[in-house]
Amino acid sequence: MKVIIFSILSLSLTLMFSDVTHAGDSYAHFDDKGQLERPMGYREWIFIGAPLTPNDMNDGKAAFPEFHNVYIDPASWAVWKKAGEFRDGTVIIKELVSVGSKSTYSGNGYFMGEYIGLEAMVKSKKRFPKSNGNWGFFRFTNDNYKGLKKSANVLPQKACMSCHTPNAEYDNVFTQHYPVLRAAKSKGEAGIGGK
Ligand code: HEC
Repeated sequence: MKVIIFSILSLSLTLMFSDVTHAGDSYAHFDDKGQLERPMGYREWIFIGAPLTPNDMNDGKAAFPEFHNVYIDPASWAVWKKAGEFRDGTVIIKELVSVGSKSTYSGNGYFMGEYIGLEAMVKSKKRFPKSNGNWGFFRFTNDNYKGLKKSANVLPQKACMSCHTPNAEYDNVFTQHYPVLRAAKSKGEAGIGGK
């Protein structure tokens, strides 16, 4: 009897305190105002790529002149390897890094400087039932790159989707720029390197 009561109690406590996008194990946590809390520890998630559109290759005015370090949360990565799709609850992080220097001992190029911003996309049927692929987009960067917000509101669909939806190769994500994702899609352990 005690065991049953304890199980019911712990189940209801779990339900009460787990404000996550998807039952159980999403890395997306929303506060009681419905804002996405800034994810923690993402530099230990799966690193999928670092695109860069530097100013000097774009007439000095690239829309996004910094490096983008992109990560996917580990639980969604596991599903991607198996099923080849972004599960409900997926979190993809884009951390902005300035161009630090343009030359080093091996030659000229682009080398990372400092962290200057953070954006994210979260897939949630429950929270974004009407958006394309159920994705919500978020920006944690304060104006002038002065630190990061603790939580962020979902951005208007048009601001980000207008470019992602028509141009990104798979489910609003630019998989065409991420060999890490392409190699592992539905390939399981065969796609993680070394085989
Ligand atoms: C003009 C097109 C365009 C717009 C507008 C745009 N993005 Fe992107 N985004 C890209 C491209 C291209 C990439 C991949 C290459 C790169 O990072 O530069 C990308 C990558 C991303 C990624 C990494 C996952 C992926 O799909 O590659 C995130 C997260 C992201 N963008 C968030 C945002 C947010 C938040 C907004 C709105 C504030 C936004 N983007 C607006 C073109 C766009």
